[in-house]
Amino acid sequence: MELAARRVVLGISGGIAAYKSAELVRLLVGAGASVQVVMSEAATRFVTPVTFQALSGKPVFTDQWDTRVANNMAHIDLSRGADALLIAPASADCLAKLAHGLADDLLSTLALARECPLLVAPAMNRQMWENPATQRNVTLLRSDGVEIIGPATGEQACGENGPGRMLEADEILAALLAHFQPKLLRGRRVLLTAGPTFEAIDPVRGISNLSSGRMGYAIARAASDAGAQVTLVSGPVALSCPYGVRRIAVTSALEMHAAVHREVADNDVFIAVAAVADYRPVKPLAEKIKKGMQTSPPTITLVENPDILGEVAALARPPLCVGFAAESEKLHEYAERKRRSKRIPLIVGNLIGDGFGGDENTLVLFDDEGQHPLPKAPKIALARQLVARISALLESLAWQHRSLGA
Ligand code: PMT
Repeated sequence: MELAARRVVLGISGGIAAYKSAELVRLLVGAGASVQVVMSEAATRFVTPVTFQALSGKPVFTDQWDTRVANNMAHIDLSRGADALLIAPASADCLAKLAHGLADDLLSTLALARECPLLVAPAMNRQMWENPATQRNVTLLRSDGVEIIGPATGEQACGENGPGRMLEADEILAALLAHFQPKLLRGRRVLLTAGPTFEAIDPVRGISNLSSGRMGYAIARAASDAGAQVTLVSGPVALSCPYGVRRIAVTSALEMHAAVHREVADNDVFIAVAAVADYRPVKPLAEKIKKGMQTSPPTITLVENPDILGEVAALARPPLCVGFAAESEKLHEYAERKRRSKRIPLIVGNLIGDGFGGDENTLVLFDDEGQHPLPKAPKIALARQLVARISALLESLAWQHRSLGA
C-alpha cells in the first residue's frame, strides 16, 4: 500500500482520455490512497460522475455552487489536507487556465486555491500539444513548479499519430509514487544490469536462468523515483520499462558487457543485479542441432564470459559498485567472499529460493561496516531501502576518498 494515508484530489478535465481516469482511480484506491474526484463540466460529457463515485467511494464534485458543502466553499475545502492535486486528463484549455490563473469553474478555482503540489497529465490532439500557445503554457507551468507527466506519443483518438496521448493509468500512478519519494539521488547517474542473459547454442536453443528481472527493475524504479538519471541494461525479461528509466535491451553476456562499457563513464553508481551466465558456448551453431543425426549426443564446449562487475570495479575511476549474490547456502560467507574478490564496497546477498522470480525477497547488505539484514518485503520496498543505503555511502567521506584514489 504505497499510498496508504495519502489524500489525492483527482481533477478530470474534458477529453476522451477521461475513460483512462476510471482505471487510474481504481489503481490509486488499490494503492491505499483516499481519492476525491473533481470533474469539469466538459469531463462529465465523456464519463459520468457516477462511475468515479462508484470507484472512489466518495461523492464527486463538478460545480462550484454545490450546496452539499456546508460553507459553499468547495474550492477551498476539497483541497485542504490533500497531499497532491493530480489533473488527468489535463486538456489544452485546462493547461491554459492553470498557467494564467483563470478560475471560472470548480476545478480551476480549486487549483488556484490549493496548498498542495499540482501534477498534470496532458491529453490532447498532437497539433494542440505542439501549438506554441500550449508549449508556452507548459513552460510557464513548469516554472511555477507544476509537474508535467507525459504526454506519450502514438495513435490518437482522432486517428492522427503524434505527441499528446495521455499516459496509461499505471504510468501516472508510477509518476505520483515517484513524486512522494525523497530525492536522495538527485543529480546522480545510475547504471544497472538486470535479468538473465541468454547464451545461444543454436538458432533456437540456449543457456539461461530463472531471473525474472523484477529485483533489478524495482531498483531501477526506486533510483529513478529518488531523482537519479537511470540507465538499465536488461537481459530478456517480460517486464515493461519503469517510467522515466532509459532501457538498453541485450540478450547475451557479451552484449551486456559491451553495453555497460559503452555507458559506464560519468555514472556515480553501478548496480549489477543481473544473473549473468558465467559461461557461453564457444561458437553458436548456425543451424539447428538435429536429433538422430549424430552417432552420440552432441557436446557443447563452453568458454568463460567476462566479469562485467569485476571489470567496472577495476576501472581507474570506478563508480560506486554494488554487486548481488544469489546463494543456495552459506549466504554470509559466500557473499562476503564475492565482495572482497570483486573489490566492491557493497554486495547484496539473497537466497536463491527467495530472490529468483516473485515479487518479494529477503536481503542482507554487506559493506565495510558489517551486515544489514532487510527482512522479507516486496522488491520495490527493499529497493527503496537499498537506494537509501547507496545514498548514505555516496555521501560518506570514506567513499569520496576512495573514488579520488586516496
Ligand atoms: O530477477 P529476479 O527474478 O528478481 O531475481 C533477482 C536475482 C536473484 C537474480 C538477484 O537478486 C541476484 O541475486 N542477482 C545476482 C545473481 C548472482 O548470484 O550472480 P553471480 O554470483 O553470478 O554474480 C555476482 C555478481 O557479479 C552479480 O552482481 C552479477 O551481476 C555480477 N556478474 C557476474 C558474472 C558476470 N560475468 N558478470 C557480472 O557482472
